[in-house]
Amino acid sequence: MTFDFTDLTPGDRYKLLTGVIVPRPIAFVTSQDEQGRVNAAPFSYFNTMGADPPVVVIGPGDRGPDRPKDTARNIAATRQFVVNLVDEALVERMNLAATDFPPEVSEVDALGLATAPSVRLDVPRLADAPASLECTEVVTLTIGHTRMIVGQVHYLHIRDDLIDPERLYVRTDRLHLVGRMQGHGYVRTRDRFELERLSYAEWLAREAERARTGSES
Ligand SMILES: Cc1cc2nc3c(=O)[nH]c(=O)nc-3n(C[C@H](O)[C@H](O)[C@H](O)COP(=O)(O)O)c2cc1C
Repeated sequence: MTFDFTDLTPGDRYKLLTGVIVPRPIAFVTSQDEQGRVNAAPFSYFNTMGADPPVVVIGPGDRGPDRPKDTARNIAATRQFVVNLVDEALVERMNLAATDFPPEVSEVDALGLATAPSVRLDVPRLADAPASLECTEVVTLTIGHTRMIVGQVHYLHIRDDLIDPERLYVRTDRLHLVGRMQGHGYVRTRDRFELERLSYAEWLAREAERARTGSES
């Protein structure tokens, strides 16, 4: 089947895009309003887009015309946020934080989320997150009703048992992050496999071998 996006409602486009672009990582974002109230909310429109400079993007959609979500409003005001990654232990609290609490209610207080101070930012990180990224807003792109907040990463905090500091090798096998699937679905990251990458010379050698042996593999 083929779908023409010009003929679809935004809700239907959302269903299709978030059905095929899976799994999506989850940014459990802490931000702070001008009164210092700490907000926490998850966003699966999220990824890293480069390392030089180190950049992440999150996409908080507006609740309606000129009604940004608290996270977007806070970042516009303070230019600071922390991306906390979500593991299996944190996933239920992450889901509760997506409740549409009014702006004056701090999810951190309502849910009793433990926080830890950031190094560079006023806004704290979540103490129970396995890893957190301290970010400042570089730019916010608004295309129609789609908002993309681009942040530069300044610090990574990661639990000691999750990294080999000599090699900067993250123990993703111990990290147990969750990803978002369609609707209310999630996925664990325990099912890993590896593929070796070939150089072009290795590719040519492989093709020559296949031609010589008539192998299909
Ligand atoms: C796993 C998960 C992922 C979500 N991803 C997004 C997202 O990418 N963009 C968005 O606007 N809302 C997303 N939401 C909904 C927001 O978390 C929710 O609207 C929240 O109340 C926003 O909080 P805030 O107003 O405090 O910023 C997601 C919810 C869940 C549970």
